[in-house]
Amino acid sequence: MTDTASTLALRSDVRTDGTLELSLREVPLPEPGPDEITVELEAAPLHPADISQLLGPADLLSGRHMGAGPDAKAVFRIPDDRFPSVAARVGRSLPVGNEGVGVVVAVGTRQLGLLGRTVSVMGGGMLARHRVVPASNALVLPEGTVPARGAAALINPLTLLSMIGTMREEGHRALVHTAAASSLGQMLNRVCLQDGIPLVNVVRRPEQVALLTAQGAVLVCDTSAPGFTRDLDDAVVAAGATLAFDAVGGGTLASQVLSAMERACSAGAAEYRRYGSTTHKQIYFYGGLDTRPVQLDRSYGMAWGVGGWLLFARLARTEPGVLAAMKARIAAELETTFATHFAAEISLADVMQDGHLDAIAKRSTRAKLLVNPKKSL
Ligand SMILES: NC(=O)c1ccc[n+]([C@@H]2O[C@H](COP(=O)([O-])OP(=O)(O)OC[C@H]3O[C@@H](n4cnc5c(N)ncnc54)[C@H](OP(=O)(O)O)[C@@H]3O)[C@@H](O)[C@H]2O)c1
Repeated sequence: MTDTASTLALRSDVRTDGTLELSLREVPLPEPGPDEITVELEAAPLHPADISQLLGPADLLSGRHMGAGPDAKAVFRIPDDRFPSVAARVGRSLPVGNEGVGVVVAVGTRQLGLLGRTVSVMGGGMLARHRVVPASNALVLPEGTVPARGAAALINPLTLLSMIGTMREEGHRALVHTAAASSLGQMLNRVCLQDGIPLVNVVRRPEQVALLTAQGAVLVCDTSAPGFTRDLDDAVVAAGATLAFDAVGGGTLASQVLSAMERACSAGAAEYRRYGSTTHKQIYFYGGLDTRPVQLDRSYGMAWGVGGWLLFARLARTEPGVLAAMKARIAAELETTFATHFAAEISLADVMQDGHLDAIAKRSTRAKLLVNPKKSL
């Protein structure tokens, strides 16, 4: 058992005065229940969803930084027009960090075999020195796995494997993926190449085309290229894609993807169809990297749908055997297919520093940071 009843954790608080405060707090650390484990965390990534939880709509330029080490704090103003989006957070101090990696230092009575093992874990609040989680939220890693390798082993890998599950269940045979040079996108590309799934990668910069092409991607379209619409049409036809997972979310991109799918489905039709192709085309928004409203021009007939897609909702419906198979694949391919690159390792207190916050707010794959809760503050 641990010799401490509390642990240090990073918290994000929205205040009634229209500010957001980041701080480190001593928070209670309960003893693990029969099927729980206590993990001493060694690394936790800052993914886009963690960054949204951390910073909300705070205006980073308004930041005031106070204290140092365990007493470090940062306070930001929330623009008035954005406050309603986080009003429900007032009075609810939020832990941050969806996943991490560490060593099991205490176990419940039914999990004795996990004591001392290195595990990847998910379940929120991972920007902390310790976390108590259900053992079912853990992936036991091979001996000797370095923390940076195990830190991002669950959320993104399980997400893309589950997306492929959705694709198969809903009768599609190919995918369109946006923000496709993301860490998740690079993994998805590797899995689709291995599994023979046609994939259209949509990126926003020429360097990202080069990056994915060098990793074997066959169909890559750059939204910044003058011929993007035609490139997307050609790629969607080549793939035969009728399903897209969109991490961008805002603006017109989803609509452009639906239009390309409709053109692909209507091509070669013997007669004009007033209500468009009868083949169902589907977009799932699974991220919100572009916070502008979504614009749909509905120029793709009537057989289409848009919806949200969330890993945790999907996992709640996943058969235990299917989940176990996904975890086994991740563990076996952790160093290759499911590897994530981190730009730097920082401490819990470093998260609140100006320079790091700027990098964090960019939500760029090349700037992805790893937080080491054991690093001195
Ligand atoms: N729904 C779910 O259950 C679920 C689960 C896991 C992940 N996700 C989502 O999956 C996405 C990828 O996660 P990750 O950890 O792999 O991300 P990541 O490695 O941090 O990469 C983010 C990518 O998004 C691009 N990007 C940032 N802002 C953008 C914008 N406004 N428009 C277009 N592209 C933009 C970046 O491109 P630049 O390099 O050009 O900035 C970068 O390639 C995120 O949106 C995350 O929230 C969702």
